[in-house]
Amino acid sequence: MEIVVSGIRPTGDLHLGNYFGALKNFLKMQHQNNCYFFIADYHSLTTHPTPEDLHGNVKRVLVNYLAAGLDPEAATIYIQSDVPQVAELYLLLNMNAYIGELERVASFKEKIRRQPNNVNAGLLTYPTLMAADVIIHRAQKVPVGKDQEQHLEMMRTFANRFNRMYNIDYFPEPQAYNFGEELIKIPGMDGSTKMSKSDNENSCIFLGDAPELIRKKVMKAVSDQGPTTANQPKAQAVQNLFNIMKIVSPDEVYLHFNDLYNSCQIRYGDMKKQLAEDIINFTAPFREKISELSADNDYLRKVAELGAEKARESAAKTIKEVREIIGFKPF
Ligand code: TRP
Repeated sequence: MEIVVSGIRPTGDLHLGNYFGALKNFLKMQHQNNCYFFIADYHSLTTHPTPEDLHGNVKRVLVNYLAAGLDPEAATIYIQSDVPQVAELYLLLNMNAYIGELERVASFKEKIRRQPNNVNAGLLTYPTLMAADVIIHRAQKVPVGKDQEQHLEMMRTFANRFNRMYNIDYFPEPQAYNFGEELIKIPGMDGSTKMSKSDNENSCIFLGDAPELIRKKVMKAVSDQGPTTANQPKAQAVQNLFNIMKIVSPDEVYLHFNDLYNSCQIRYGDMKKQLAEDIINFTAPFREKISELSADNDYLRKVAELGAEKARESAAKTIKEVREIIGFKPF
């Protein structure tokens, strides 16, 4: 069984795009590998959240993942800051991380552009913390998207550099975990091809959204004037509505509206009404679970404690060995 590690940014509630992206793959992976999934709360301090926001967002992400089916018995689910060994390994790796290579990382340059008044050392060393997250469990695989490729490369650099420095084959080189089948991309309600909270919160349908809110968001979704000739190609925004419908609605419903479109008889109002009800149905189990779990702090505490224990066990073993390799030895 391969050791897999992935970090989840504590961004609060999850939407349909998150579900069909990383989340659904985590659900499958958790039964096939030795998975460590953690909420990256140390990382999130680079943007200086208030204590209330930080705690609330960590809780909401945890609740959403559990509601969607992440299983604390199958995978090790933990909060990054519950495992201080990660911070120690981060410190050690930083001694061999060069300012020049860190400054060249694309995500760092992007952050400088986005938050020029808060270019802190945590941002610069974000890749070393990520490397520590992964190699603390001596993991082989990291299920991340294309945007994280450079960070993955840095992990390999730091792992290899340590191995070379101490002339020991200790850390494996972490590789990207390939999902195999194609990832389903969920479009936004604003005509964009990707549902994204950072681009436009209103374009997102969250797993826990109340039915009334879902109706409102879907009815406001971008469409067009309607087709004027038979079998006219669909505009992006219209295609988006059909794409979501294909996923959440029964086949005959999708075909029905597709036929109406092709024969120029479609009324988007009707289609959206149907789509909203089907999204409400699809999200019903998540909604119930989310509200149940949000009110159950005892259970959340137990999940976090169980995960922290399992993660610390693995992390403590690595740190003990790393300390010895480096030369921190008892007299
Ligand atoms: N940087 C990742 C993101 O933005 C989150 C993350 C932090 C992560 N540490 C990690 C992902 C370690 C994979 C492995 O999504």
